[in-house]
Amino acid sequence: MIIDDIDALSVEQILWLLDPSVEGTQSRSKGRQGPLSPAVSPPTNGMEGAQGDPSTVVAGGDPHHEVAEQPRGQSSLVGPGESLGLGSDRFVGATMAGVFEHPSLRTRSAFAGAAYAVGALPVFFVGDEIGIDSRESAEDVAHLLCEHHQLIGARLRHHRTFARMAEVARAYERPMVNLLTDWAHPTQALADVITILEHTRAQPGDPLPSLRIAYLGDANNVARSLTKAAIALGWDITIAAPNGHQFGIEDVAAFETYRELCGSKARVELTDDPSAAVREARVLYTDTWVSMGASGTTEGFEGFGIDEELLLSAPEDAFVMHCLPAHRGMEIAASVIDSERSVVWAQARNRLVAMERLFWLISEED
Ligand code: CP
Ligand code: NVA
Repeated sequence: MIIDDIDALSVEQILWLLDPSVEGTQSRSKGRQGPLSPAVSPPTNGMEGAQGDPSTVVAGGDPHHEVAEQPRGQSSLVGPGESLGLGSDRFVGATMAGVFEHPSLRTRSAFAGAAYAVGALPVFFVGDEIGIDSRESAEDVAHLLCEHHQLIGARLRHHRTFARMAEVARAYERPMVNLLTDWAHPTQALADVITILEHTRAQPGDPLPSLRIAYLGDANNVARSLTKAAIALGWDITIAAPNGHQFGIEDVAAFETYRELCGSKARVELTDDPSAAVREARVLYTDTWVSMGASGTTEGFEGFGIDEELLLSAPEDAFVMHCLPAHRGMEIAASVIDSERSVVWAQARNRLVAMERLFWLISEED
């Protein structure tokens, strides 16, 4: 299973990651036939095409919510040998490689916690110590990692390097997960949609709400994965970006193709007007204006930051998200990110929840 972006997962799998069910997974792990299914099959209605209508899906208990009273810092699920019946024991006693060409706090921490939760030892390779394409080729690095480890996670400067390594992993039938490239950040998007649901549904298992996300700033890796996640779930999304930082026609075409594949009715809209973007948005999302490895500057982004004034244009129940790390006073005002309107710490906590669920899901894959 190669997860280069969120659309490598089926909508059905994304729905399961939102609402994993002990009952559903146990029955799958004992004799699963075909693709993963939510515990209760969704009626098909408009979003079918083997995907089901996410707005009507109803699933069983959510382990994250069942253990929500646990002390902060404790994994949402439980450790090896004590799982809630999610997934298989595929990774018990295994090692997982986490390759990081860029710095990371949340992703690396989540990878380590999730590896532990499924019974594996995470092994990290950080910075230029491997020397991908300098000390040896990306393909040779991937060969070695596949010989030694049962899962490869990689945060790489270039998405094309991920694709080259993934070719090798595919031949080994080793799962490989994108932990951020210049193109995509799928494990972030999973945490984002889990967080959005936590803050918009009365309780786990309730039907998916319909809503609009406004993403403000640079149309980057995080925005791209978030947009695809929104499409998969039938949520409208508006990207407000300055000239030169907006998605191009290739992205727009890819979003449309994915929309059709999902049978989604989600609308993807592009604008350079931040106030208009937030007017009907339940979720206001932003990220750094200059991503890791990017050569740009913050020039041109004035007016695209989320501050108290912009919040006045948004609905009263709109809340604010940021994948972090944040630059207070730039893409987000301190008075906003540190306010009641912000859910960034729930969002950051859900990086661990999402990574664990993803590893459980992968543990059941052939
Ligand atoms: N949001 C995110 O990926 O954080 P890190 O870069 O710290 O992993
Ligand atoms: N877009 C940012 C995300 C950091 C988590 C970057 O790529 O640096």
